[in-house]
Amino acid sequence: MQHVIIITGAGKGIGRAIALDFANAHQRNPQFRPVLILVSRTAADLEPLAVLCRSAGAEAETAVLDIADIAAQERLVESLIERYGRIDCLVNNAGVGSFKPIGDITEKDYDLMAAVNMKGTFFLTQKVFRHMQHQRAGHLFFITSVAAEKAFPSSSVYSMTKFAQKGLVEGIRLHARTCGVRVTNVMPGAVLTPMWGEVDDAMRKVMMLPEDISRPLVDAYLLPARTVVEELVFRPVGGDINE
Ligand SMILES: NC(=O)c1ccc[n+]([C@@H]2O[C@H](COP(=O)([O-])OP(=O)(O)OC[C@H]3O[C@@H](n4cnc5c(N)ncnc54)[C@H](OP(=O)(O)O)[C@@H]3O)[C@@H](O)[C@H]2O)c1
Repeated sequence: MQHVIIITGAGKGIGRAIALDFANAHQRNPQFRPVLILVSRTAADLEPLAVLCRSAGAEAETAVLDIADIAAQERLVESLIERYGRIDCLVNNAGVGSFKPIGDITEKDYDLMAAVNMKGTFFLTQKVFRHMQHQRAGHLFFITSVAAEKAFPSSSVYSMTKFAQKGLVEGIRLHARTCGVRVTNVMPGAVLTPMWGEVDDAMRKVMMLPEDISRPLVDAYLLPARTVVEELVFRPVGGDINE
């Protein structure tokens, strides 16, 4: 059976690893036929990724859009429903962070984090969940963070938006449980991705890698539909960095 899977922020980091792991899961199990909808704002990241996913046997298409653009989200969801008739999985992964002391956060930093992490994530989830409710099946993943329940000195507004995502996870789960839709909150600590910019060797040695997160996420999706992994929490083995 085909599985229509939207991955936001698929161009880099954790989202890219999730796309590749879904494609590899098809190689391990040809019965599992993912149709990967790879979303980000940068076509140059998505096109080569789509080629890699297709070479592993998955179907893949790219959708170049800003998830904070609500009209663009609407066009994407409607076009998927028109062509495939269903959406099986949404991985809400796209997210942004400005990591600065609280006094240095600007209005622009605040607006961007709020628009992508909160507004974009909420409205895309709302649109997709409507169809999942009707299907009485589906899986919503949220890549929140350990910062969704714990403060860090340079993560004031980022943490606000991640706590808010956790609020959305818990709210939508109440509805999802009544209609067979699975909801998984994925909470990683520090993962080595472009989000961190330049990273020195000492940090690099202790950080997790994107595939440490993506493989268990795909395994959670592949469990029988009767079972949901509600939370996945990942930390570097020595504990959180930058406390
Ligand atoms: N890395 C970590 O240590 C860590 C830890 C905990 C949680 N997380 C969370 O995990 C998620 C992924 O993080 P990451 O580290 O993989 O980030 P990343 O390396 O910066 O990659 C983020 C991806 O999201 C896309 N994106 C950003 N804003 C977007 C928007 N408005 N619309 C569409 N796509 C957008 C980016 O592409 P474009 O810029 O081209 O659009 C990029 O492909 C985020 O939600 C982050 O908060 C990360």
